[in-house]
Amino acid sequence: MTLTVAQGSATGQGTPVAARANQVWKVYGSGEAQVVALREVSVELQRGAFTAIMGPSGSGKSTLMHCLAGLDSVTRGDVHIGQTKVTGMKDKALTKLRRDQVGFIFQQFNLLPTLTAEENITLPLSIAGRKPDKAWFDTVIDTVGLRDRLKHRPTQLSGGQQQRVACARALVARPEVIFADEPTGNLDSKSGAEVLSFLRNSVREFGQTIVMVTHDPVAASYADRVIFLADGSIVSELYEPTADTVLDTMKRLDTGA
Ligand SMILES: Nc1ncnc2c1ncn2[C@@H]1O[C@H](COP(=O)(O)OP(=O)(O)OP(=O)(O)O)[C@@H](O)[C@H]1O
Ligand SMILES: [Mg+2]
Repeated sequence: MTLTVAQGSATGQGTPVAARANQVWKVYGSGEAQVVALREVSVELQRGAFTAIMGPSGSGKSTLMHCLAGLDSVTRGDVHIGQTKVTGMKDKALTKLRRDQVGFIFQQFNLLPTLTAEENITLPLSIAGRKPDKAWFDTVIDTVGLRDRLKHRPTQLSGGQQQRVACARALVARPEVIFADEPTGNLDSKSGAEVLSFLRNSVREFGQTIVMVTHDPVAASYADRVIFLADGSIVSELYEPTADTVLDTMKRLDTGA
């Protein structure tokens, strides 16, 4: 199933694509141990949109995200981030592309324990030899509500606060795309809602592009679009999802109706 852009961008000016997979196959292993994780997946992720990826365990969600982010190679087909063809890039160029254009948010936060919240947030920029733009840094900090926690270390922060640090870290570099794999998987529903609101606001207000893997229909309802994977293929999608329409689609796919 091939999906194309069906919505205008936030500014209403055209529909530029932030990331794209074109007839992507991903096959792990060989012989009897062979696993086809993605089967000819084609998808365009429009800039300034919030896209959720859903599907049963093992359906290929993380694999698709890793391939789109240039973290994993594809077996066949190709991937673009912005105008740049990721497939076939040399390691060094790929590392630079990921550093400059891709942000990540993980289920386990992945903060460095010896650094303060502020140092964690600016670390990727420091590594890239870039200085954070002061006004932008302040905007991000105020949006995630971390102003009074900047000097704290991760162990001194709640799970929700730690994930907001991870969100700020991804956003402060203004990447082309932020990929989030189950960002609310380790959070209670209130902290999860805060993180999801923050992600949605960064799309609405700053035009950030976000792709999020989730199992939770409520989390998916914060997105502009939901893509459903099953057994390595895209089998359905929804625009303007609600928790109910997401749940209905999941049930329908489950029963094969
Ligand atoms: N490195 C690997 N080597 C071999 N098989 C793999 C590897 N990574 C993933 N797979 C297989 O590819 C398929 C898709 O895995 P993937 O991690 O993308 O699923 P997922 O949809 O993210 O699942 P979950 O919801 O459990 O995180 C699974 O069958 C998995 O076992
Ligand atoms: Mg996964």
